[in-house]
Amino acid sequence: MRILSGIQASGSLHLGNYLGALKKFADMQSLEAERFYMIADLHAITVWQDPEKLLSQTREIAACYLAAGVDPARSTIFAQSAVPAHTEMAWLFNCVARLGWLDRMTQFKDKAGKDKERASIGLYTYPVLQAADILIYKATHVPVGEDQRQHLELTRDVAKKFNHDYKTDYFPLPDTLYQGPGARIMSLRDGSAKMSKSDPSDNSRINLTDDADTIASKIKKAKSDADALPSEAAGLAERPEAKNLVGIYAALAGVSVEAVLADFGGKGFGTFKPALAEVVVEKMAPISERLRALLADPAEIDRLLTIGAERANEVSAPVVKDVKKIIGLWG
Ligand code: TYM
Repeated sequence: MRILSGIQASGSLHLGNYLGALKKFADMQSLEAERFYMIADLHAITVWQDPEKLLSQTREIAACYLAAGVDPARSTIFAQSAVPAHTEMAWLFNCVARLGWLDRMTQFKDKAGKDKERASIGLYTYPVLQAADILIYKATHVPVGEDQRQHLELTRDVAKKFNHDYKTDYFPLPDTLYQGPGARIMSLRDGSAKMSKSDPSDNSRINLTDDADTIASKIKKAKSDADALPSEAAGLAERPEAKNLVGIYAALAGVSVEAVLADFGGKGFGTFKPALAEVVVEKMAPISERLRALLADPAEIDRLLTIGAERANEVSAPVVKDVKKIIGLWG
C-alpha cells in the first residue's frame, strides 16, 4: 500500500481541509504503508501568486501537516516543485490524456469563470499534473475530500489509457478514499456552498489558525434552523445547515451521524451548538497552538522539507525513467 495526497499552497487551511484531508493523513499513519504528503505549489501557480507569499504559504501548509499530527518519521512531507518528476511526468501524461476529458472538468469551469480565454493553460491541464503527482509514486490510495473525485477519476483514466496504449500493467489504478461525514464540509453561513478558502466571509469557515474564542463564536453564529434535531439521519436530508453541523460533530468526535443523533435527537440548536463548539474547540484549538509554535521555527520546517524532497526524488525518478523507456524516448 502506498498513499499519496496533497494540498494546494494557496491561502490558509480550514476545517474542511482538516476533515477531508489532514485528519485522514494523520489517521492513516497506523496503516502498514508508505506515505507521501506534498504541498502542491505548482498547482497553486495556475493562478497568479505573489512570490514571497507563495514561499511562506508552502511553509505554512507544511506546518499544518505537522500540527495536525503528520509525523515526518512516518510520512514523507515535501514541496511538489522540489521533485522534478512531477513536471516531467505531467508532460508525458499530457500526451496520454484527451482534450475531451479535460473539457468535462467542473473545477476548471468554476475557476476560469466566464472569460476562459484568459485562464492559464496550467489551470486547464491542472488535473494532468495531479495524475502525475499520484502515479509517479505508483500510489494505490489517495485520501481526499469529495471535491477531488473527478480529478481522481481522471487519474485512473490516465493510468488505464497508458497501460492500454503501451500494453503494460505498469501503473496501479489508485483508489480514492473520501468516505465518511468529513468528506464534504459546507460553509457555516450557507449549507449549500462548500467551506472554502476563497469565501469572502471569514465566518463561513473555521481556520486552522483560529483560537478557541474565535472558534466558539463562529459556531455560535453558524446558520442553523428553528427545528429540533431529528433522531434519524434521513431527517437531515432537507436541512443542509443542520446536516453540516451534525456531520462536523460526527467527523471530529470520530462517531457516526446516527450516534450523534441518538444523543441529540429531539434537542434544538440551543443545546447542540454549545456541545458542538466544545468538540470543535477541543480538537482544533490545540492544532492552532501547535501551528503557531511550528511557524516560529521556519528553519526546522525547511529542514524537514529538504529531507522529504530527497526521499520523494528517490522513489519518483526511477518511475519516470521506466516510463520513458516504455514510451521509447531517448533520454
Ligand atoms: P485543495 O488544496 O483544494 O484541498 C486540499 C484537500 O482538502 C479537501 N477539502 C475539503 N474536504 C471536505 N470539505 C471541504 N469543504 C473541503 N475543501 C477542501 C480537498 O478535497 C483536498 O483533499 N487538487 C488538490 C491538491 C492536489 C492533490 C494532488 C490531491 C494536488 N495534487 C494529488 C491529491 C492527490 C486540491 O486543490 O486540493
